[in-house]
Amino acid sequence: MKKNRLTIFLRLLVLSSFSLLCNCSNNSNKVKESVKQSSLRFNDAKFEIQEIKLNEKVFKIRAYENIIYVAKPIDTAYQKMNIYIPVEYFEGKAKGGYTAETAPVFFPNHIGGYMPGRAGTAITKARPSLGQGHPGRPAHQQGNNARPQRHSGKRTNAIAEALSKGFVVASPAARGRTSHDSTGTFTGKAPAAIVDLKAAVRYLKFNDTNMPGNAEKIISNGTSAGGALSALLGATGNAKEYEAYLKKIGAADASDNIFAVSAYCPITNLDNADIAYEWQFNGINNYSGRGKSGILTKKQLKISKDLCKLFPAYLNNLKLKNKEGHLLQLDENGEGNFKDHVKACIITSAQKALESGADLSNYQWISIRNNKVKNIDFDAYINYLGRMKTPPSFDALDISTPENQLFGTATTDKLHFTSYSYKNSTVNKAEMADEYIVQLMNPMYFIGKSDINVSTHWRIRHGAKDSDTSLAISIILSNLLQNNAYNVNFALPWDVPHSGDYDLDELFGWITTICK
Ligand code: DHB
Repeated sequence: MKKNRLTIFLRLLVLSSFSLLCNCSNNSNKVKESVKQSSLRFNDAKFEIQEIKLNEKVFKIRAYENIIYVAKPIDTAYQKMNIYIPVEYFEGKAKGGYTAETAPVFFPNHIGGYMPGRAGTAITKARPSLGQGHPGRPAHQQGNNARPQRHSGKRTNAIAEALSKGFVVASPAARGRTSHDSTGTFTGKAPAAIVDLKAAVRYLKFNDTNMPGNAEKIISNGTSAGGALSALLGATGNAKEYEAYLKKIGAADASDNIFAVSAYCPITNLDNADIAYEWQFNGINNYSGRGKSGILTKKQLKISKDLCKLFPAYLNNLKLKNKEGHLLQLDENGEGNFKDHVKACIITSAQKALESGADLSNYQWISIRNNKVKNIDFDAYINYLGRMKTPPSFDALDISTPENQLFGTATTDKLHFTSYSYKNSTVNKAEMADEYIVQLMNPMYFIGKSDINVSTHWRIRHGAKDSDTSLAISIILSNLLQNNAYNVNFALPWDVPHSGDYDLDELFGWITTICK
């Protein structure tokens, strides 16, 4: 009996001390968590003043550079951002009609080629390389703020432009397809880049009350892979699918939906990009671009035909509608009112060019009467556009593309991500990426889902002379957004190649209309 009592007493003692210990560690976890979160508090005292020269005018900003935006960074070179704030907002003054409370936050990323992307700067420190970014070249080697304005020959910096108009600017860096740690483990494979952009947004929202700018008015901007990520950010606001990834890197406890998206030539919808490319370019048998040119081999011609045939079923399944509410469809030969719709977008583009004074008389395949573009020969237009990539353009049979590398894992550098290329792979034992992760990189899977806070406002541009991806990709994205009642401003600017930030006056004009 005595022994029994003693055993019970001892058991109780053990149990209670165990629960005490648990409580303690729970509490200490909470303390740790709050310490971590407090490390994400914006420190407004740590800045330097920068003078920005723009269009003969000089103005001052506070520069907060290299701010780590997560509490548990994996890569401190890329999980950081630069924040720039007009000095007026610390002096109780207004700028461009905005105040410290109302100024929208311009959020440009400089991701190119799905490589790690550097944070942008307000002052252009190095002369940017003119011309297009190359997916094989890290963004930081592509000049400071990648892909400056090319067409007018004038260099632009969207960050300086935004600041001059009274915006707060936050430019995030993000991990990319080649990121790795000291042991060689890959750290930037999909979905790392979008997780990082979301974490940067969460940082801004977490700090909304203690820093100038309105984090409910974040406008994301990016070009190419950066345009794709800008669109993905807007399409996946607060999506629970990314939660575990965000928790792992210690993202701030805040939401990650954004107000508006600007996307230039987004290289997006990667799992359907091969079939869209061949729907557009099947029949164009020579290719040229990025230092490579040639004629498609017999095998490539067969691949082009195979892929081209797969596009109508995909398109029809989307059940997109035009403005009149009619279904946009294609028959098995790839003909139908969706193609007419693409053609109509090109006609609108040519008409706009004509009205702004462009001479289109050299293009025999454009019919113009009384200063109106009446028709275009679609095949001749595709021929003028020209094929840049060989089929399959994105999921290469030899897993050699930037996208194959994007969909690698911590331990495998490159993977397939479409069933066609996986089945026809030329690489011994090449594996397939996790379908779920492929979807985490594609805005098309999120738009229209009820539990997602998709951005209300979208501006999408795809140059009418851009053959990095099919025009159909941007058109489908814009259409899906429109069908879900989002505000979409879409255009295919005439003769514009793969590039971005070439129409900053129009971009900021649009931003003004949605913000004021
Ligand atoms: C980019 C361009 C591409 O053609 C591509 O496949 C991926 C990325 C880019 O410029 O970012």
